[in-house]
Amino acid sequence: MNSARLALAALLIPLAMPLAGLAAHAADFTSPQIEARVDALLAKMSLDEKVGQVNQLAADSLTGPGKPAGGADALIKKGQIGSLFNVITAGETNAYQKEAIAGSRLHIPILFGFDVIHGFHTLFPIPLGLSASWDPALVERTARVAAQEASSQGVRWTFSPMVDIARDPRWGRIAEGAGEDPYLGSAFARAYVRGYQGTRLDDPTSIVACAKHFVGYGAAEGGREYNTAEISERTLRDVYLPPFHAAVDEGAGTLMSAFNSLDGVPSSANAFTLTRVLRDEWKFQGFVVSDWTSIREIMLHGIADDESTAARKSFLAGVDMDMQSDVYLPYLPGLIRSGAVPEARLDDAVRRILRIKFALGLFERPYVEASQAIEPAIPAERIAIARRAAEESFVLLENRSVNGSPLLPLATGHGGKIALIGPLADSAQDMLGSWTGAAGAEGVVTLKTAMAERADRAGMSFSYELGTMLSGSGQAGFAKAIEAATRADIVVLALGESGHSSGEASARSTLDLQGNQEELLEAVVATGKPVVLVVFSGRPLAITWASSHVAAILEAWFPGHQAGPALANVLFGDVDPAGRLTVSVPRSVGQVPIYYNSLNTGRPRVDPIGLGSQKADPYYITGYIDETNTPLYPFGYGLTYTKFSYSAVHVDSSSISAGSLNAGTAHLKVSAQVRNTGDRAGTETAQLYIRLRGTSVARPVKELKGFSRMVLAPGERRLVEFTLGRDELSFWNIDMKDVVEPGSLYIWVAPDCTTGSPVKVEIAD
Ligand code: NOJ
Repeated sequence: MNSARLALAALLIPLAMPLAGLAAHAADFTSPQIEARVDALLAKMSLDEKVGQVNQLAADSLTGPGKPAGGADALIKKGQIGSLFNVITAGETNAYQKEAIAGSRLHIPILFGFDVIHGFHTLFPIPLGLSASWDPALVERTARVAAQEASSQGVRWTFSPMVDIARDPRWGRIAEGAGEDPYLGSAFARAYVRGYQGTRLDDPTSIVACAKHFVGYGAAEGGREYNTAEISERTLRDVYLPPFHAAVDEGAGTLMSAFNSLDGVPSSANAFTLTRVLRDEWKFQGFVVSDWTSIREIMLHGIADDESTAARKSFLAGVDMDMQSDVYLPYLPGLIRSGAVPEARLDDAVRRILRIKFALGLFERPYVEASQAIEPAIPAERIAIARRAAEESFVLLENRSVNGSPLLPLATGHGGKIALIGPLADSAQDMLGSWTGAAGAEGVVTLKTAMAERADRAGMSFSYELGTMLSGSGQAGFAKAIEAATRADIVVLALGESGHSSGEASARSTLDLQGNQEELLEAVVATGKPVVLVVFSGRPLAITWASSHVAAILEAWFPGHQAGPALANVLFGDVDPAGRLTVSVPRSVGQVPIYYNSLNTGRPRVDPIGLGSQKADPYYITGYIDETNTPLYPFGYGLTYTKFSYSAVHVDSSSISAGSLNAGTAHLKVSAQVRNTGDRAGTETAQLYIRLRGTSVARPVKELKGFSRMVLAPGERRLVEFTLGRDELSFWNIDMKDVVEPGSLYIWVAPDCTTGSPVKVEIAD
């Protein structure tokens, strides 16, 4: 075992152990005991008190317009605030809670919510970075830490995970999700829910999850924030709904209705998604909160002319709680008295909210220990998790040989002088990305700090230059940067976009390195020194020039508190790069949307199974006259410091019946052998893709249906095994039924979505 593998193993063992207990299903919020308690409480509630439960206010203002909660105290005493959010210290939550418990007639506790997106006090990589780990157990662990930290302050509800599928990197919120794939997105949705909610919601360290934004927000036209989504019902069901369904299935207690309209219907008033799909089909028993003022916004969408109509439409469609629109509290009583809204609907919404409050144990333990102030320093155990999460999130995109050996890892004899250059090398705040929880930048260790220390230990000399700023065109820093590069043996460039260029309200129309960083990059490369480019971004950037001119490229996303140490560990080879892309990286913004699981068209450029592709005149095929159709880097791709080989794919049967698959009585067993053919240990993620042909509707050229992440020692082999059954092989067919159909099934087990040879199986009648 080499030192890298030992270091990895040492980390894996202590961190893996606590996860064992988390395997069980999460909260049961519809037990007979809870239902009986809800019945008893509902029977005592006045109309105004019931309406109070469906009202949520922000105690301060973090995003968008809204009301400060200055007047909250009087409302709380009248039992008219069901939930408060953006209150994040034990002192504050306890003070508000006391008003509710001691001051209101029925003593119903407040549920405190907050955007705990990639950590509360300890910040992990942004969710897109976490997804590149392809390691749901790790993500579960980070969510558990976040739950422990948030709950210690009385925050028992997070507005996370964001499970929106995103195929357009212009959309800034791509940073907050798990990328472009519904299968992988579902695996991560489940992991977050398990981590936040634990095995029991009434464990005081558990917080209730909120899968958002229901639904289709990631398909915003042109990537423009808050924009319209047009998604066919089949694509909605095949691509956008599955991660939400997975979250609900895992026990997520709440969902958030989105800002966007879907097929002309604002998501916060969409009875098809909120009632038919979510309640009737999926049997969801928790509650739906609107996104911030999104009920009021249905007036701007144009389906309500006044506030009362907005309240009525959203409430009847299935939005149980009003976040910040302030229309349920004033209008629902009148709407109910006039019969425009049945009181039974109000009882249903209040029941759903009370279920969660009872399940959380809030009636028994409404307060937290006031002394549990947020710890100023992050404990070592959490720092280790944050570092490991960051290490696993980095994706090595290029690693060319310089003087006969790959440029990375750095400590392999390419010379003793390193120059670190770039505006992101020492910018602590940017390392956190968007949504910073209750954390500040003071806990961040930057790349500059960590590299200086690591280079010193390796006996290498180290220098640093800013080079340029993230915005603007000033070149004042170029000369010093080039001078430093010229003096060095190796240059590490830390470039990308600012931490706040992604996330909410941060769509971009270009996918370039911001400002004049591209010019700095080209000038440094022109010195002829070997360059390692570390890209910090909340989305894939179109680094097309760099991909062919820079020796080594590492995509780092925004790594969180342990950015520097994690990067130094990977760059110096103490830890192997293990991440794989969960989004396609485009060559240019004109290729967007670009995603691997697209349809073949009737005039494909390259058919992945080589069937009937080039019958047409090659001029008349799908694509552009000035760009290829392939991404710069495909979904699933990522290099390591070693090499892996794959055997042919083996299936246990070359034919299987659709009927028995549909009945759940038959499964296909798929296996392949993966071998580490290099001389270092490394992490490989074997990916199983399928393609279906001969079906009633066209299916994507590839669909991920399994993955297996493993650490292999040099020369070690591992048999990876997968099972394909109804869940993996069904799709929404021509009759809009979710079934397995007869046809041809092609199966790949490969290191990414573009390689490998398929094995064919017949799905018979
Ligand atoms: C608006 C965002 O869209 C949503 O994701 C967030 O949870 C709410 N604001 C609350 O901050």
